[in-house]
Amino acid sequence: MLNRILKSLTSGSALLLCALCVFVSGCGQSEDASPEDMAASAARGEEKRLTIGLSQVGSESDWRMASTESVKAAFSSGAGYNLIFDDAQQKQENQLKAIREFIDQGVDYIILDPIVETGWDSVLSEAKEAGIPVIIYDRLIEVEDDSLYVCWIGSDFKLEGERACVWLKEYLDSRGVTRNINIVDIQGTLGASAQLGRTAALEEAVKENKNWRIIGRDTGEFTTAKGKEVMNQMLERYGSDINVVYAENDNMAYGAIEAMQNRGYKVGLDIDEEEFLVISFDATHNGLQLTLDEEIAENVECNPLYGPRLTEIIEALEAGKPVEKETFIDEEQFSCVSYIGTIQVRNRPYTVTHLTSELIEERVY
Ligand code: AHR
Repeated sequence: MLNRILKSLTSGSALLLCALCVFVSGCGQSEDASPEDMAASAARGEEKRLTIGLSQVGSESDWRMASTESVKAAFSSGAGYNLIFDDAQQKQENQLKAIREFIDQGVDYIILDPIVETGWDSVLSEAKEAGIPVIIYDRLIEVEDDSLYVCWIGSDFKLEGERACVWLKEYLDSRGVTRNINIVDIQGTLGASAQLGRTAALEEAVKENKNWRIIGRDTGEFTTAKGKEVMNQMLERYGSDINVVYAENDNMAYGAIEAMQNRGYKVGLDIDEEEFLVISFDATHNGLQLTLDEEIAENVECNPLYGPRLTEIIEALEAGKPVEKETFIDEEQFSCVSYIGTIQVRNRPYTVTHLTSELIEERVY
């Protein structure tokens, strides 16, 4: 601890000096105490409060709000952190600006949930030069030099999509549906890992299932309003030719369902009765309620509770322990259909949980 404080002092950390000054005056010591005296005082007192600069994607979805709540609670001042939180409003340029500001402020760690995968090399090189460790979570980044970040923790978005598509195949087979299946893909923010993975999985499944085809696709930017707008355009173009709506998150599914119902289309499980079958991702509280109501046929979880996972990483780094470079989190899958309990994806079994109202009540987001 003392070593770290002295090291920080010699590297001229303005933040630490301020913290020490406050600490010293609070203890009624002389204002002209030497840096060594101040460091020793701090060492006898409380741990240095870490300053975290966190760049969040935006507030586009229920998932995102839950994620923000989780990180804000974990990095609260009560938990001993100084959190500088920045909402980038779904614009990468805002994230680049925020990271540069974090560097100027001399934060201890930068935590980034990147809107898109590319375009991070320069700004992360600047963070590296400033000696600030960077942790990436949720979505991934693509950089030439992977030493630009300490570690990444997040979802396997492609696997989420694969699980959704295998379930759809099982479901159609179980109903003996062999006719052509016309799919509309309402995509997330283009270039975001959550979009790239889920779209790629659908494309692969369409190649494998000769009677499936994607008849329309557009980005709904992960929002309810845009999801509704895209679905309205698809309905104008394809009307009742649509069989399946693959909404790449819950909010776009809400918007799409509203658009279909406003135009008098039925949403449900019976494709042969001209019902539109909706697939969604996130498994938020509202998304699961719609799943229980059979408006969403299946919902693949994308877990937003990153706060405790991120503090665990920082605690490990502070203790000098090694951390995994890449960690995929485990996620669930839910359906209103009871008889598809397990599916095989990438040669391993995955459980599909039959949804009940009790499960939704227990849900924390
Ligand atoms: O990156 C996670 C995705 O982003 C979630 O699926 C979505 O709801 C969010 O906006």
